[in-house]
Amino acid sequence: MFSKILKWVGIVVGGFILIFAGFITYVNLALPNIEAEDITVDVTPERIVRGEYLSHHVMACFDCHSKRQTDVYSFPTDDDYLGGGAVAFDKKLGVNVGSFYPANLTPFNLVDWTDGEIYRAIVNGVGKKGNALFPVMPYMNYSKLAKEDIYSVIAYLRTLEPVEADSPESEVTSFPFQTVMKLFFPQDAQHQDIPSKNDVLKYGEYIATAASCSDCHTPMSGGKPVADSAFAGGFELTTITGKKIQSSNITPDKETGIGNWSKEYFLSRFAEYRDSTMQNRKLTDSDLHTEMPWIQYSGMTDEDINAIYTYLMSLKAIEKKINKVNY
Ligand code: HEC
Ligand code: HEC
Repeated sequence: MFSKILKWVGIVVGGFILIFAGFITYVNLALPNIEAEDITVDVTPERIVRGEYLSHHVMACFDCHSKRQTDVYSFPTDDDYLGGGAVAFDKKLGVNVGSFYPANLTPFNLVDWTDGEIYRAIVNGVGKKGNALFPVMPYMNYSKLAKEDIYSVIAYLRTLEPVEADSPESEVTSFPFQTVMKLFFPQDAQHQDIPSKNDVLKYGEYIATAASCSDCHTPMSGGKPVADSAFAGGFELTTITGKKIQSSNITPDKETGIGNWSKEYFLSRFAEYRDSTMQNRKLTDSDLHTEMPWIQYSGMTDEDINAIYTYLMSLKAIEKKINKVNY
């Protein structure tokens, strides 16, 4: 009798293990099941202008997808490598689940990509080969933008000078993370229209989303942003020079955040990097090494920076002291 029960327990447990193994196999083989759409993006002058603005100064694609100048303050892109020669997101940058290489975005690499495949990478987080993309690539933000803005970026990428730089294949070394990445990250588009500039708050939220401010300014726990600490800083970043730094608290807290900053001061903190001497200022020993893309964002219009300010000031003030030092 007892052995009979054991046998049944064995069959039931075995069944669960099989179902679980089957589920993992399904996730690994079949997901993400998002097809590339059959679209053709017309390369119009309007789209090129808008796409250049977004990809350089708001969505900051080239902050990750270019070689950068390690001897200049805030590490701007090396313009000879615009769109290519990027740094790997690997152990050196504090990533411990694999090595991820931001693709060459110039025609050297994208020449045989369809517009639908580029769109799918930016919005859904699915690569050319149908693979899930590492979510440091901010596709979860891009999926919330207007379709037309994504089309503008694609149109602009088609006009880049080819940069002959191969990027190696990305590699996931953590088996559980490989499954997690396929299961939870790639997703359908949730496009919205560009909000009216008269609705400054909503428009500011749109620009802040496009610029992925919260990705760096929100601490993470267990691979997920801590929702009730949104924009409160303390997220640890490793700079391309190997130093560590924590992002600032940019909530309206008066003591520990930016609650005492006027709109004019906020704008000036970005606008000071519009100056070409600031854009080429060599790092000195006493300089902070920062990953905040000051120079790229400084190209945003005053209107867009002001709208971000309005949005940030509407957030919940969170008291959290961050020390702005390298370690
Ligand atoms: C914060 C860094 C970051 C930013 C900003 C960023 N990317 Fe990426 N991107 C990456 C990384 C890392 C990968 C490689 C991911 C992987 O292989 O899993 C990637 C991959 C890609 C891919 C390639 C998919 C493939 O199959 O090889 C495309 C296309 C792409 N990004 C386009 C863009 C565009 C366009 C923008 C701006 C609108 C952008 N990215 C902004 C980091 C970034
Ligand atoms: C790639 C990561 C990254 C992104 C993206 C990013 N930041 Fe930052 N930010 C940092 C780091 C690190 C610091 C601290 C060092 C410094 O001041 O440069 C910082 C500092 C700041 C400061 C200075 C605060 C102070 O107390 O001096 C402001 C303001 C700010 N960020 C606003 C923004 C806004 C607005 C966005 C989106 C448009 C944004 N950041 C996107 C990393 C980032």
